Amino acid sequence: MIRIAVLLSGRGSNFAAIHEAIAARALDAEICAVVSNRDDAPGVSRARDWQYAAHVIDNRAFASRADHEAEVLRVLEAAKPDFIVLAGYMRLLSTRFVAAFPNRIINIHPSLLPSFPGVDAQKQAVEHGVKVSGCTVHFVDESLDAGPIIVQHAVEVRDDDTAESLSARILVEEHRAYVEALQILARGRYRFDGRRVIAS
Ligand code: GAR
Repeated sequence: MIRIAVLLSGRGSNFAAIHEAIAARALDAEICAVVSNRDDAPGVSRARDWQYAAHVIDNRAFASRADHEAEVLRVLEAAKPDFIVLAGYMRLLSTRFVAAFPNRIINIHPSLLPSFPGVDAQKQAVEHGVKVSGCTVHFVDESLDAGPIIVQHAVEVRDDDTAESLSARILVEEHRAYVEALQILARGRYRFDGRRVIAS
């Protein structure tokens, strides 16, 4: 059983998928905190409905990025998570923040990294004309969308896809991939071989 803290900024469908997997006993985890930088994030309403400890820490209320992060860190340290799960958290994390939780921050990105890091990954994939895209669950290190990969799921890009239609099909795989990756962490049966994450 691992304790996870979920950080989100919006819809929270990945958070919902994780919640449902825990409820269905498909994931041996417990959500110990949900943190959002936006009070109006639908993910926050879901967290409250499901009676999780939901913390809104609005970055606009802080004088600097460092002050905002310090408050997020304070809340996370009190919640004592084993892993911090980024689920559509649209804030860049500083080196200091990442260093506070080495190999314990997990992110999902809607492309097959290292292709299409950054924003609008699905639009980038359609515009580039790739035939296959997908999603990546990875450990967060100090570089953007580049840490060691835990799970990837591929999704075909169709000739008539738009960024929206591709996003919808990738999202279905995101929900599966996130649960699969977290279950690898929950079992504790993985090791690092350089950049490679070897699950057994
Ligand atoms: C997901 O598609 C996730 O991959 C993406 O934000 C969306 C959040 O959806 N994250 C990134 O692009 C990170 N660079 P959700 O709020 O419904 O989980």
